Amino acid sequence: MYNSKITGLGYYVPDNVVTNDDLSKVMDTDDAWIQERTGIQERRHVVKGEGDTTTTMGVKAAKIAIERAGIDKDDIDFIVFATLSPDYYFPGPGVLVQRDLGIKTVGALDVRNQCSGFVYGISVADQYIKSGMYKNILVIGSELHSHGLDMSTRGRGVSVIFGDGAGAAVLSREEDTNKGILSTHLHSEGQHAEELSLIAPGMGKRWVTDILEDADPNDESYFPYMNGQFVFKNAVVRFSEVIMEGLNKNKLSPTDIDLLVPHQANLRISQFIQKKFGLGDNQVFNNIMKYGNTTAASIPIALTEAWESGKVNSGDLVVLAAFGSGFTWGSAIIKW
Ligand code: UT7
Repeated sequence: MYNSKITGLGYYVPDNVVTNDDLSKVMDTDDAWIQERTGIQERRHVVKGEGDTTTTMGVKAAKIAIERAGIDKDDIDFIVFATLSPDYYFPGPGVLVQRDLGIKTVGALDVRNQCSGFVYGISVADQYIKSGMYKNILVIGSELHSHGLDMSTRGRGVSVIFGDGAGAAVLSREEDTNKGILSTHLHSEGQHAEELSLIAPGMGKRWVTDILEDADPNDESYFPYMNGQFVFKNAVVRFSEVIMEGLNKNKLSPTDIDLLVPHQANLRISQFIQKKFGLGDNQVFNNIMKYGNTTAASIPIALTEAWESGKVNSGDLVVLAAFGSGFTWGSAIIKW
């Protein structure tokens, strides 16, 4: 048995900054509401027609992660790509990354676990490395939300929150089993699947042809829906549970945490968790203020920024935790 460790991190966000004031020009919202309820000050949106997609952003983040890992793209044994906003309905972006990075014909797996996608992704990668099957795995989380949001006042409860961007990590074999990813913990509760969802187009209820045939200007089925307060209430409970589960599994306590990198869902959620676990400001990393909620990309972007700013050092106990649509949630306990 081996462990896996994160040997390279990278992120990419589009240049186009969209402030709360920018949004208030196209919908009935305001900077004070958004900051008070979410902590978000601005986010990035890909400018339509300027070329960036979920895949290209993922590729840009991946190139940085691979370089920092000190390996060649040909050393990558497997690709895991987490997103809820793929370039195509099928195939998923994993194979597009294999193509665009010119990686040999390794396996490429697409993960559909929304805000928990990156944690699910590194959990999968960790198992492959632990078993000895693969040595280096590229895990990407990338999202292009902005093209699919309802930017009218009708969609304001969702659209002000989400942003575009990508993050990537290289996981590599670690011989010392006291180092690297110590454990991962994954959960789901499908009874709440529709509480945060995008149901059309889908084969289950409404396909593209149904949407076109209806041509209903009041059709909201192809915009994301979120029962915000219900999601919030579940998030704070599940975040806490899954962090505790990970700590208990490793006989650790909250005081052992050097850095918690929570999925950037809402600054209020991060602050609730911080208070609950008695953590100081320097023990929780947040960047939702700058990027909004980038779903599967949020943890790898935040982890990369934390690492770049010297907040992640050898020997540190780093905890990743996520909650989102599905509902799905998970954590990873890492000895850096
Ligand atoms: O990443 C996946 C997990 N996601 C989450 O964890 C998100 C969890 N939920 C949340 O973060 C919060 O529920 C939101 C930030 C989405 C919403 O905050 P809230 O405090 O739950 O607001 P609300 O939905 O209860 O809406 C309160 C009021 C409503 O007006 P009335 O009915 O009280 O008159 C909304 O229409 O705020 C109104 N509102 C807005 N006003 C200005 C909703 N969105 C906006 C907006 N600007 N953008």
